[in-house]
Amino acid sequence: MDLKAYLKEQCARIDAALNRYLPEENVLPHSLHKAMRYSVFAGGKRVRPILMLAACQAVGGDTERAVPAACAMEMIHTYSLIHDDLPAMDDDDFRRGNPTNHKVFGEAVAILAGDALLTEAFRLISDPRFAADCDPAARLAVIHEIAHCAGSHGMVGGQVVDMESEGKADMDLPTVQYIHTHKTGALIKASVVAGALLGGADERKLAAVKRYGAAAGLAFQIADDILDIEGTTEEIGKDAGSDEARGKATYPAVMGLAAAKEEAQAMMDEALRALEIFGGEADPLREIAAYIVKRKN
Ligand code: IPE
Ligand code: IPE
Ligand code: MG
Ligand code: MG
Ligand code: MG
Repeated sequence: MDLKAYLKEQCARIDAALNRYLPEENVLPHSLHKAMRYSVFAGGKRVRPILMLAACQAVGGDTERAVPAACAMEMIHTYSLIHDDLPAMDDDDFRRGNPTNHKVFGEAVAILAGDALLTEAFRLISDPRFAADCDPAARLAVIHEIAHCAGSHGMVGGQVVDMESEGKADMDLPTVQYIHTHKTGALIKASVVAGALLGGADERKLAAVKRYGAAAGLAFQIADDILDIEGTTEEIGKDAGSDEARGKATYPAVMGLAAAKEEAQAMMDEALRALEIFGGEADPLREIAAYIVKRKN
């Protein structure tokens, strides 16, 4: 398959839906809606929503059903980025090739834009207008899975340990693994699990997709750590070298760059093994796993 064309097409589909779902800038409060749209449309890769659609396809589902939840996931991810960049957190100036949200709108509006994106996401997934073509039990399971993976048991939990580990000289692998599987792995895993649930997956397919998501999620953050070292600010669209400057607990910091690259590759192999029960319908998931470790931004 032509991955580049696939990503472009799915990205356009997600962008169009996000544009429909997000409040317009002329809706009050203007500053808040402007700030929300600024970060959402700053040029993200849309990896999580695309993974959700790809997982839905892999289990034989109608991907149209997963579009609202896929957009909700991108809103949650964007909120996490706005907050991640704040002075109290990573204190970064660039994101998605543009000045960070707080640099443009100020810290208070940036915090609130993040809060609103998180909340709007759950309003969107629970919107009864999208219930008609979807099993209510599956929708409830999706909401629960996403909430679990976004909160203290998932992304937020990982972000806290990431902060608390800054500047520590004796960082150990289990802690970095915890940080990565939580701050980044959790939302990626939730994306594919939600896609599989919305696609009507049975237990066996769901377990395979979960295993894929756990491995691909960890691979994604190891690749992010590597790009922070090897990429330029222009290439990655965010402040390069930020991790070393802040003494972040990363895979390269703990095991060295070469071993981190091997680990990312090993996780990609594990993600592919998890998909052995599927045929060609899981090709997008396979191609995305490979893309996750070889991407340049
Ligand atoms: C960046 O995520 C933050 C991490 C969890 C590593 P992405 O690399 O998916 O960023 P965007 O959405 O494309 O900007
Ligand atoms: C991101 O980790 C995790 C989030 C939940 C946003 P990073 O701090 O490494 O992400 P970037 O490199 O700023 O995108
Ligand atoms: Mg961070
Ligand atoms: Mg950061
Ligand atoms: Mg990073």
